[in-house]
This record gives sequence, C-alpha cells and structure tokens, in this order.
Amino acid sequence: MIINNFYAEQFRNLKDVMIEPCSGVNMIYGENGQGKTNIIEGIWMFTGFKSFRTKRNIELIPHEEEFYNISMNFFGNNREQSFQIKSSKDVQEVYRNKVKVTSTRSIIGEFFSVVFSPSHLNLIKGGPNEKRKFLDIAISQINPSYARNLNDYYKILKHRNALLHNFEENNYSEDFLEIWDENLAKIGGKIITERKKYIEKLKVASINCYEGISEKKEKFNLEYVQSGKEEGNDEKENEDILLELLKESRYSDIKRKFTSKGPHRDDIEIKLNEKNIRNFGSQGQQRSASLALKLGEAYIINQLTDETPVALLDDVMSELDVGRQNYILNELKDWQVFITCCEPTQVMRMKSGKNFEIINGKYVSE
Ligand SMILES: Nc1ncnc2c1ncn2[C@@H]1O[C@H](COP(=O)(O)OP(=O)(O)OP(=O)(O)O)[C@@H](O)[C@H]1O
Ligand SMILES: [Mg+2]
Repeated sequence: MIINNFYAEQFRNLKDVMIEPCSGVNMIYGENGQGKTNIIEGIWMFTGFKSFRTKRNIELIPHEEEFYNISMNFFGNNREQSFQIKSSKDVQEVYRNKVKVTSTRSIIGEFFSVVFSPSHLNLIKGGPNEKRKFLDIAISQINPSYARNLNDYYKILKHRNALLHNFEENNYSEDFLEIWDENLAKIGGKIITERKKYIEKLKVASINCYEGISEKKEKFNLEYVQSGKEEGNDEKENEDILLELLKESRYSDIKRKFTSKGPHRDDIEIKLNEKNIRNFGSQGQQRSASLALKLGEAYIINQLTDETPVALLDDVMSELDVGRQNYILNELKDWQVFITCCEPTQVMRMKSGKNFEIINGKYVSE
C-alpha cells in the first residue's frame, strides 16, 4: 500500500494541507499541538472510517466549520484509487474514485494501515476492554463478516441485559431468556472462534517482534482468556460451551442485572518473562510490547493479503532507546511509514525519506 498524496481541505486544525509522501519513511515534525497527530488520524480514517482518538465525529470538524473534508490517492490491490470523506456532524459521505459508496463495509479492506500511538499503551496498561477493542478492530479489518457478527452480538446482548434489568420486578420466568441465550451463544461462538484463531497468529508474529526489539533479552507471551473455564476447539463447541455457561449463570445474572459470561467479558493476558506486564513491566518494556502487538497486527495483514499496510507511528519513538528505534525502522524498511515527532532524532534523520514540518495546522517546509 502506498499513499501518493493526502489532502486535508479541513480537518481538526488542518487547513489546505497537501502532502505527497515518499514510499519509504515520512517524518512529520513540529512542536506540540501543531497538527501532526491530526495528519496521522486523517490518514487512518480511510482504514475503518472511524477515528482512533474519538467516537465523536463532531470533534473532527474544525471549530467554526460545518464539515470536514479529507481525501487521498493511493496504490493498493494492484491499482490506483482515490478515497474521500466528507462529513458533517451527522452525515458521513464516502467517495471511492469520485463515486459515492452506499456502505463503507463494501470498501473495508481496500486500504490497510496500522496505527501506533501513545493511546495504544492502553493495550498494556488498560483493562480487558481495551484489549478486546484492539482484537475486534484488527480482525474486522481482515474479516468484514466478523464486524457484522460483533454488531449483532452486541445488539442481542443489549436486549438480554435490558430483560435482566427488570427481571425480578416483572416476575419473568427464566424461559424468557432461552431464545436470547441461544442467539447470543450462536454468534458468540463465532466471535470466540475467530478471536482465538487470530490470537494464535498474533502470538507467533508478536513474540517474534518482541524478540527482535529486545534483542532476545526478554520473553514475551500472550494468551486469550475466556470468561468460562472450559474452551472449545471449533465454532460449534464454543457455541455449546457458551450456551451452557449462559444457562448456568442465569440466576446470578438476574441478581446482578447483567450478562456476566461471553466474549464481551474475555481478555488477553500479556506477559513478560512470565510476569504480568501490566503490573511489572517498565515504561519502555510496555511501549515495546504495545509495538510488538501492533507490528504483529501489521504482519498478519501482510501475510493474509500480500499488501504491506501503511505504518502510522505517532509519537512512539521517544521512549525507546536507539537500538529499539533502529530495529523498528529496519523492520519496516520496505513499508511506507509515517512518523511524527517533535524533533527528529539522530536515528530517524539518518534514514532517507521525506520530512514535513507542521506549524499551526499547515505544512510549511521540508
Ligand atoms: N475540531 C478541531 N478544530 C480545530 N482545532 C482542533 C480541533 N481538534 C483539535 N484541534 C487542535 O489541533 C491541535 C492538536 O493537534 P495534534 O493533536 O495533531 O497535535 P500534535 O502536533 O500531534 O501535538 P503533540 O506533539 O502535542 O502530540 C490542537 O491545537 C488542538 O486545539
Ligand atoms: Mg500528537
């Protein structure tokens, strides 16, 4: 995947920013608060048509304006394409090769990128929610039917929880839950199966990356942890186990007024040298681990699609020592990379590539 140009007519504080990146390393630099991450966020928007920083579309629209408008030309899947997003507070319009698309689902998978940002440290420092979110976004990118299943799962879960909420007051019978449990288990079984398959791939890829980053000095590992003890080997087994679990926990779910078992409660356990990295990892180790996971994600896209996703590295180099920075740049040497930083370091300056200085939402110089 190579972006030939990216244009932000207006997006957050960016105004008329046109950049024509090279196919290697592109350094976006400038002082704090100038618009560097906004460029990364703008490019990322074409991957899933959502921001990685906010759920609220309105935040992307420049203050005092009614809409944002970003576009880019890129080469991927053996052809040149253009994408454009024009969005008001309520309506997002997406154009592919100047033709409006009816559903963004139909073009997911046309443009791949992987973003590494300080907020991804939450992958390590945050709770299960952050980890599930990471998994769900990563799998949805390569498997749009997973995104559909996830959506359906959460809809059914919402109904089941609404029922539980008033269960005792309304003197409902437990049979009321039967149909919701069956539906939830059916889709939940698919989600668990896909997640476990993905984790197996991610494990191989990210252990390998972490070994490289740490020069084999530290041992990284991860496991998918389910809310039930027993684990199935395929979709049907996962469905059956989940159905059983939902039935078993009906009584306590009624008391607690929510659904306590299922993929919405699962987690990823991440360890360094056999210890939980969240509690025992240093700042640099935690950052390296989040990078290993994100690089792992990028390699999986690469393996499955034969495309190299665009790597968006937002402010991630600052806490890594020179060896670790070098490893990452070296690993990504055949990829198109965007790196933001305040002051390009020695390592990054040594790499050939293009520089873009951003001041107050404008691209001012190389
Ligand atoms: N909707 C918006 N309209 C106008 N300006 C906005 C909007 N959203 C954010 N900004 C402005 O964008 C700037 C932040 O941009 P960005 O996050 O890209 O900074 P940065 O260059 O990455 O800085 P840092 O080095 O601190 O990470 C801030 O000045 C902020 O006020
Ligand atoms: Mg920033």
